[in-house]
Amino acid sequence: MSSPRPALAIIGGSGFYDFFGDDATTLEIETPYGATAAPITVGDVDGRQVAFLPRHGRKHEYSPHTVPYRANMWALRSIGVRRIFAPCAVGSLRADWGPGTVAVPDQLVDRTSGRPQTYFDNGGIHVSFADPYCDELRAAATKSAVPELPMKPAGTMVVVQGPRFSTRAESRWFAGQGWELVNMTGFPEAVLARELEMCYAAIALVTDLDAGLEAGEGVSAAAVFEEFERNLVPFKRLVRHAVATVDGTDTCERCRVHDGVTLPFDLP
Ligand code: ADE
Repeated sequence: MSSPRPALAIIGGSGFYDFFGDDATTLEIETPYGATAAPITVGDVDGRQVAFLPRHGRKHEYSPHTVPYRANMWALRSIGVRRIFAPCAVGSLRADWGPGTVAVPDQLVDRTSGRPQTYFDNGGIHVSFADPYCDELRAAATKSAVPELPMKPAGTMVVVQGPRFSTRAESRWFAGQGWELVNMTGFPEAVLARELEMCYAAIALVTDLDAGLEAGEGVSAAAVFEEFERNLVPFKRLVRHAVATVDGTDTCERCRVHDGVTLPFDLP
């Protein structure tokens, strides 16, 4: 049988480690940046081939700062992927966006450090990242809202280094900037997708109110996982619907950021 060529992919975050049943095809991909966090599975969603990759590994072997982001994204591109939905768990910086809310961020603030965040260490390539997410995918995700999970069609997600959660002061500072969501894995994944000319949108499920809003002990990993698990069934339904309804299987025009540019190497 020939190798599958999925144009669409889902990258699962904390608590989202599988998507297909046993009839999926498993691909083990080596890249110039090493192995992916887990084998990629390819299955069927409404007659379309779709790839699934759990970014932390199948058993959450990788912390947010040790995820092999470059290998994960390179491998997806190399098997034909051009459009990616990235569901993830997030903390909320607003009391009125409580646990169970789904947001489709339109902006990102990078507060990570030391993570390899480019394929272009040489070659003078500087991609446009003013709008870090693909609007076509964001529209498909927003339209796929489910009744159980209130939907916010935009928002700013600040990505912290982790693996620790934020202090109350950091959290209040983020909220004071007008940012709505906090997460640990949204960067560099989004910019690596852009460098490889793959459309990319995060779909964020709020699992907790971040420390600045939380009167008790602050955020705990156990509470985050528990809340994510509670909403996992409708959240997966939303993601499936987004994948099934998105138009087109090629990179959209706005995410084709290298048009007319000579790259130092061919994209995989
Ligand atoms: N992921 C889920 N909740 C989070 C929080 N409060 N801070 C950072 N990442 C998170």
